[in-house]
Amino acid sequence: MRILIIGSGGREHALAWKLSKRPDVTEIFVAPGNGGTASVAVNVPIKDSDIQGLVDFAKEKAVDLVVPGPELPLTLGVVDAMQKAGIACFGPSAACAKLEGSKSFAKEVMQKAGVPTAAAGVFTSRAEAEVFVKEHGAPLVVKADGLAAGKGVIVAMTMEEVRAALDLMFEKNAFGEASSTVLIEEFLEGEEVSLLSFCDGKTALPLPSAQDHKAVFDNDKGPNTGGMGAYSPAPILPDSELSAMADIVARPILTEMARRGTPFKGILYAGLMMTKDGPKVLEYNVRFGDPECQPLLMRLKSDLADIMLHCIEGTLDAVSLDIEERSALGVVLTAEGYPGSYPKGMPISGIDRAEALEGVQVFQAGTKAEDGHILANGGRVLCVTALGEDLKKAQARAYEGLALLSMEHSQFRTDIGKKGLKRLQLV
Ligand code: AMP
Ligand code: GLY
Repeated sequence: MRILIIGSGGREHALAWKLSKRPDVTEIFVAPGNGGTASVAVNVPIKDSDIQGLVDFAKEKAVDLVVPGPELPLTLGVVDAMQKAGIACFGPSAACAKLEGSKSFAKEVMQKAGVPTAAAGVFTSRAEAEVFVKEHGAPLVVKADGLAAGKGVIVAMTMEEVRAALDLMFEKNAFGEASSTVLIEEFLEGEEVSLLSFCDGKTALPLPSAQDHKAVFDNDKGPNTGGMGAYSPAPILPDSELSAMADIVARPILTEMARRGTPFKGILYAGLMMTKDGPKVLEYNVRFGDPECQPLLMRLKSDLADIMLHCIEGTLDAVSLDIEERSALGVVLTAEGYPGSYPKGMPISGIDRAEALEGVQVFQAGTKAEDGHILANGGRVLCVTALGEDLKKAQARAYEGLALLSMEHSQFRTDIGKKGLKRLQLV
C-alpha cells in the first residue's frame, strides 16, 4: 500500500509513524513534511494548498490512500479532487469542511441539528454588531467567521475589550476575508475537552477524550497558540461516557449533513466546554487536532489505514476501536517568542536519548533535517509524547524525555495534564 500524507506538523509525523507500522505499507510520502517525517517517509516539496499538484503526484505514484492533516486542503476540496481522480482520500468534502471553515455555517448546522452551543449573533457590519453588544453587555466572545490559524477568537471580558475586538475585525481588517463576517457569542464557563470521532457519513465512532492546552504559558496564561500539549484520556470525559457524548455532539451533525445531501466522512472534532448546564460545542474541526493527535495515536492499537478505508467506504459500523489502556501525554517544545516572532535554525540534540525511554516518541513539527542534524524551523518545534500506566506516570515520562533534549531559545509549559490530575485528586 502506498500512502500520501498532506501537511508538515507534529500531527503529520504521528500519522506517518502510525501508518508505517502496517505491514503491507511499502511507501509513505509526506507533502511537504518535516525533519521527523523524513525519517519514516519520503518528503515531497508540494504545498498543502496545491490541490492539483497533490492530485498529479498521487496519480503518478499510484497512491492507494491520501490522508490530509490540516484544514486548508480540506476546505480547498482536496477530498473531492482526489475522489474525482479515483483516489481514496480520508476526510470531509469541501461542503463538509465548511463546518470548520465557517463558524456561522457551523452554528447554523448545530442549531438545526439541536446540538447544544453558545447563543450567538452573526454580523457583517459594525453598526449591527454594536446594537447586539449594547443589548448583551460583556463578557462576550468575538469570532472571525473564517479560518484564521486559531487566532480569530477573542474572549472579551469588558466592553472595552469587546470594542477593541470589533475594531480589529471590522476596522483594522486584521483577519482579512475571514472577518468580513463576525460572530458574537455568549461567554461560557467550564473546563474544555475534545471529542474526536471517526465518521463514514452515517456512523460516528468516538476516540477516547483528549485535552489540549491552548495558552502559551503555565496556568493558561498568555496568548493562544496552536496547542502547547495534550493528553488522553481527560478525566472530565471518561471512556464510559464517550458514546453518550457522541450522541449529543457528533451523531446529530452526521444526520443533518446527510439530510443536506453532503454526508460527513473523516474526523469530526468537537471542541467542548463542560458547563454547569452540560456540554456545549465551542467549535468543530474536521481533522485530527494538533497536538491531540499525538497522544491519541499512541493509544490507538487498531490499524489506522483500515479504519480510514472503512470511513471512505461507509462501512464503519463493522469496526470497533482497540485502545491502549495506558494514558498518553505530549508536551510541545516551542521556539522562544512563539506565538509571536521567534528564531529559527537552532540545532536540536537528544531526540534519540528521549526515544530510548520506554513508551516515548518525539514527534517533530517545525524542524528540518540538514547534513544529518535536526534544526528548528518553526514555532512549535516538536512534541515529546509518552505512555504511562496512568496520567501522572505519562506526565512524568514525557517530562523525563523532554529533559533529555536540548535546544537554545526554547520554551515549554511545565503543567501539561495538571487539570486532569486535579480532577483525579493527584495534585
Ligand atoms: P474556538 O476556536 O472557537 O474553539 O475558540 C478558541 C478558544 O476560545 C476556545 O478553546 C475557548 O478557550 C475560547 N472560547 C471560544 N468560544 C467561547 C465561548 N463561547 N465562551 C468562552 N470561551 C470560548
Ligand atoms: N489543537 C487544536 C487544533 O488542532 O485546532
